[in-house]
Amino acid sequence: MRIGVLTGGGDCPGLNPALRGLVLRCVQRGHSVTGFLDGWKGLLDGRSRPLTALDVEDAMGRGGTLLGTSRTNPFKTEEGARTVLSTLQSAQIDALVAIGGDDTLTAARELHTRGGRVVGVPKTMDNDVRGTDWTFGFFSASSVSTDALERLKDTARSHHRAVVLEVMGRSAGWVALATGLGGGAHYTILPEERFDPEHLLAAVDRAMKAHGYALVVASEGAEVSAPLDGGAAAKDDFGHALLKERGVGAFIARLLEEKLGVEARSVAIGHVQRGGPPTLFDRLLALRLGAKAADLVEEGRFGEVAVLRGENVTSIPLEQAVASSKTVDASWLDLLHTFDA
Ligand code: F6P
Repeated sequence: MRIGVLTGGGDCPGLNPALRGLVLRCVQRGHSVTGFLDGWKGLLDGRSRPLTALDVEDAMGRGGTLLGTSRTNPFKTEEGARTVLSTLQSAQIDALVAIGGDDTLTAARELHTRGGRVVGVPKTMDNDVRGTDWTFGFFSASSVSTDALERLKDTARSHHRAVVLEVMGRSAGWVALATGLGGGAHYTILPEERFDPEHLLAAVDRAMKAHGYALVVASEGAEVSAPLDGGAAAKDDFGHALLKERGVGAFIARLLEEKLGVEARSVAIGHVQRGGPPTLFDRLLALRLGAKAADLVEEGRFGEVAVLRGENVTSIPLEQAVASSKTVDASWLDLLHTFDA
């Protein structure tokens, strides 16, 4: 078989190991792999390259994606949908593996409903894909933000300041949750909860009095006041507002200064979280899911997505994975607030 592959949506550590898992499993079984460049855009423009064992030789420790990516949605128009199908046909692709988050997997589902032979592999630093225990990229990104929080602790403590770290995650608070818990924040603000300024101020006040500094983690998607500038924000091809300009962290730091009279700073680390080598967990998960995608293609299980359930890699329908996004649930929230100052 000739198997096509693309990586779509925001890059994250683990994409290259996933490609290695797919390519080496295919090579072992006698199939060839064609990589489409820059996500679905490569299928619109007909840009691709062969992927061989040599191409994935150094893949395990490398962040980003060797195929490039984009947030292009080819199914926004009927013409785009037709182009995708005709590119797959003219490149003689027997099946396509789409590696991505909810947007890329939604596009894969669209392709499947139009008769395309496609399987999915979930990835995202946001960890918000339903049906899989974890997505690769999440632990790598959260390790970076936890490291940032620990560095901020040194400087906050030295200057007796309150420091707010704003992290990514879109409308899911998983990265903020992991960073707050992992780095020992005094308060963490997630999109999944109604913002409670009284609780925040009380926690920061207690931390300042007890330790002489305070650390707050804020998720970029948290609703912390009547609309910041979220309503006016630019949107991507899939209709998502770009959240980096909302300034959640800066808003919280101003609030702390105004209400508590403390000196406060905010830091938004943005895309720094998405770069760098994947953690070992993400390497292994990505490798396994990439190899599983090759198995799904061989077994003719089109319209499915490889997922992690407990210790096992298995598969579920794409439909199920994209039905809704996975947000932080009540038991995690309960645990999180055990550690408020
Ligand atoms: O979905 C991954 C993510 O990093 C989000 O956490 C963030 O809101 C968004 O991508 C940023 O998108 P872009 O890289 O297009 O600026």
